[in-house]
Parts: sequence; C-alpha cells; structure tokens
Amino acid sequence: MEAATALASTRPAVLPPGPRLPRLFQSLRYALRPYGVIDEGARTYGETYTVRPFGQAPMVSFSDPDAVKAIFTGDAEAFRSGEALAPLLGPILGWHSILVLDGERHLRERRRMAPPFHGERMHVYGRLMREIAEEAVARWPIGQPFPIHKEMQGITLDVILRAVFGVDEGAAFARLRRVIRSFLAIADSAAAPFLGMRPFQIELGGVTPWGRFVRRRDDIRAILLDEIGRRRREGTAGRVDILSLLVGLRDDDGGVMTDDELIDEMFTLLMAGHETTATSLAWIFHHVLPRPDVVARLRAELADATGGAAVEAEHLPRLAYLDAVMKESARLTPVATNVVRQLMAPARIGGVDLPAGVSVSACIYATHHRDDLWPDPERFVPERFLGGRVPPNAFYPFGGGVRRCLGAAFATYELKIVLATVLARAELRIAPGYRMRPVLRTITVAPSRGVPVVLERRPG
Ligand code: HEM
Repeated sequence: MEAATALASTRPAVLPPGPRLPRLFQSLRYALRPYGVIDEGARTYGETYTVRPFGQAPMVSFSDPDAVKAIFTGDAEAFRSGEALAPLLGPILGWHSILVLDGERHLRERRRMAPPFHGERMHVYGRLMREIAEEAVARWPIGQPFPIHKEMQGITLDVILRAVFGVDEGAAFARLRRVIRSFLAIADSAAAPFLGMRPFQIELGGVTPWGRFVRRRDDIRAILLDEIGRRRREGTAGRVDILSLLVGLRDDDGGVMTDDELIDEMFTLLMAGHETTATSLAWIFHHVLPRPDVVARLRAELADATGGAAVEAEHLPRLAYLDAVMKESARLTPVATNVVRQLMAPARIGGVDLPAGVSVSACIYATHHRDDLWPDPERFVPERFLGGRVPPNAFYPFGGGVRRCLGAAFATYELKIVLATVLARAELRIAPGYRMRPVLRTITVAPSRGVPVVLERRPG
C-alpha cells in the first residue's frame, strides 16, 4: 500500500482506467446490482478505478485504507461532500440540509447539531426504543411469514417520530406517521433507484413517481412547520426530543435556526436515520437467523448481562458479542456502499494525481471485502471483532472525517436495543425458500423482499 497524502499537483492528470460503458448504463447496472458491480470493478481494475455515473463528474473509487484516510482527512474546502451530494439530495431534502452544505456553513451546522447526538445523551432514548420494539414484537403473527425489514422500518420510524421529532401522541402523531409512510412507500417502489437521478425528477402535476414524492414531501413539511410553531409558542422546557433541542438552540452570536433550516434538518434526520437503521437491522437478521450457533451465543450473553430482565442502557457495555455481530453485518453488507467527495483542488491520493472537478469515493463495500484486510471476506464471522484490533481505515460503515455520520451513536444504540429486545421476545427463522439478492433502494442497499421470516414462538 502506498502512503497517500493529498497534495496539490501541477501535472496533467490521466484518470485511472475503469468501465468504458456509456454513463447511463454504468448507473443502471449499479442500480440493478450494487454489490456485484463493485465486486466486478475490484476484480477487473484493482483497488483504484474510475466510474462515470450518469449526470455526475467522473468518480475515482478507492479501497486502500491509506487512500481512504487521505480522503477523510483532506482539507474540507478541497474535499467537498455537499457539492458531490447536492444534485442528488438537494431536491429531496432541501438546500439547508447539513448533507448538502460545505466548508464553514457545514461546520457551523455540525456544531449546532452534534450536541443532541452525543453518545452520553442516548440513554435518554434507550427506554423509548425498547418500548417501541416490544410493542412491535407483540403484534407479530405466529406461524405466518412476514418481511422483517418492514417491521424494522415501523420501529425506526416511530423512534424518529418520538425521539427526534418529539411527536408522540394523538392525531398529530397518527397523521404524520400516515403521510410519512405513504412518502416512504414511494422510496420502496420499483421507481426508487431512479428517484435520485436528475433526468427522472419530473413532476408532471404529481402523476410521476417524482411528482408524488414531491407532494408527500410537502405534506410532511407542512406538519413539521406546525410542530415548530407550537414549540416556539409554548417553549421547549422539559422536552428531550431533538427538534425541541434545536428549536431552543442559540448560536454564539445569539442567532436561532430558522423554520426552513429546522425543516430541512428534520427531513435530513428522517431520511438519513430511518431507512439506514431499518436496513441495517434487516441485514443483521438475514445473517444471524440461519446461524443457530450465533443466535444461541447472543441469547446466552444477553441472559448473562440482564439476568432475564428487559434490556437497559447499563447492560449494553456487557454485550460484546452483540456488538461484534452488528459490526460484522455492517462489514459484510454495508447499507451505504461508498462515500463521495468532490475535489475542488488538484490532489494526490493513493499515488494518483487527480485534477479539480472529479469526485473521489472511499468505497466502503470494497474496503470491507479486501482479503488482505479481512481474511475469507465473504464469510460472516463476528469473532473478527472480538478482542482483535481492527486495522485503521479498514472499517467505516459510518463514513469518516468531519462528515462522519452524525447519528452513529444513536443508530448503534438503537440497533443494540432493538436486537436485544427481539432476541429476548421472539424466536424467528427465515421463511422457507427465501433466496436473498442485494437490492438498491434509493441510496441504501438492502436484502431483497424485506427478508421474510416466521415467528415460531415467544419465549418466556
Ligand atoms: C446504521 C445506520 C446508519 C448508517 C449505516 C449511516 C451511515 C452514514 C454515512 C455513510 C454517512 C456519510 C458519512 C461521510 O460522508 O463520511 C452518514 C451521514 C450522516 N448521517 Fe448517518 N447512518 C446511519 C444512521 C443515522 C441516524 C440514525 C441518523 C440521525 C438520526 C443519521 C444522520 C446522519 C447525518 C445528519 C449525516 C450527515 C453528516 C454530515 O454531512 O456532516 N444517520 N451516515
């Protein structure tokens, strides 16, 4: 591996070789076979190659940890993420979203939004997460197959509505949940992989998938505006939800977040936090349920830590195997395949001189599947994460640097609480005949058909 630093270069740059297919085909192939196309790229071109997505700058993909480090530690002004994501996410999330901002504006937004997501604060939400998971498990039918992914979407949506938006009862909750579900159903449809592609973003009075998407999005924005107005009028004292914390926030200069900023950020947290967490849970069930040895070890560890009581925050540090299972699932099947930065200045990464204007991708999936870092990389082996030291920049399901996932602690906490609760309260198996295929859903990669499972019994 060549040491990599991002340096300005004056030499003319020739981009590393890569697939020569027309751009539209490159994007369509990825939309249809996300992991397979990355595997193929790595097999054919090695650790660094250039892809040309439709309607975007050429993107040089890296999997080498030193190159990944260079991408994550590069000067935020030169390695822009908002710039790279804006064409895709701006029309969906709004232009104040932290995801589409760069430089000083991004850092200011991070300073505002980071405190509510600090690891220690998560205990506030632990019990809520468990109760939501318990209520869901109690509704599952015994003996009839159902898609576990959908159930996990229900749980993670309710967690966002209650912990993040702070809407937790009565008509407002039911209405918001209904509108968001119908909005998310569009992201579930066959049109999903194309929603993020500019040429397919045509409204035509709300009859196209994109038009329906925009209408639902506007309904959600209207409800959020009501919620913000209520907090501004009634005050936020005693409220622990993240929206209230942000409404009550004062910048160093005494400024407050505007309604538009709050709405775009709430939308961002919904879109960045709901599907990613639900999909991560679906992948974990896909890996764990066919492995009685793994299930037995998880249950034994849980019983040992909780003594049979419901899982609480204080038990989590003693669930090392659960932690390893979660990490191994994120290694093998990361829900985000890569993170992208747009180069605003020439840079040298992994020994390659690159000009301003191209994008660079730290390919999470490719790094996680390198056999020099992860022996026998296609196997699910949670023990890799027990005791041993993980090589630096070899595992980054939450991205890295100043853009690392803001909700990583929140998501990790939720994955553990939900898994522990489901394991303690349900004996599940994969429905007979299920054959998994990884599928792209707007941005995340998920197991096909939502992973049909059967609840055999509720222990205890
Ligand atoms: C297992 C679940 C999750 C995964 C795998 C995940 C993954 C990611 C990744 C890969 C990024 C991009 C990082 C980069 O560019 O370097 C990201 C950014 C982000 N995530 Fe997550 N995420 C998850 C859950 C959440 C949750 C629950 C929230 C909030 C409720 C959240 C909020 C965000 C935000 C706001 C950003 C943008 C950060 C910035 O641009 O500064 N994520 N996430």
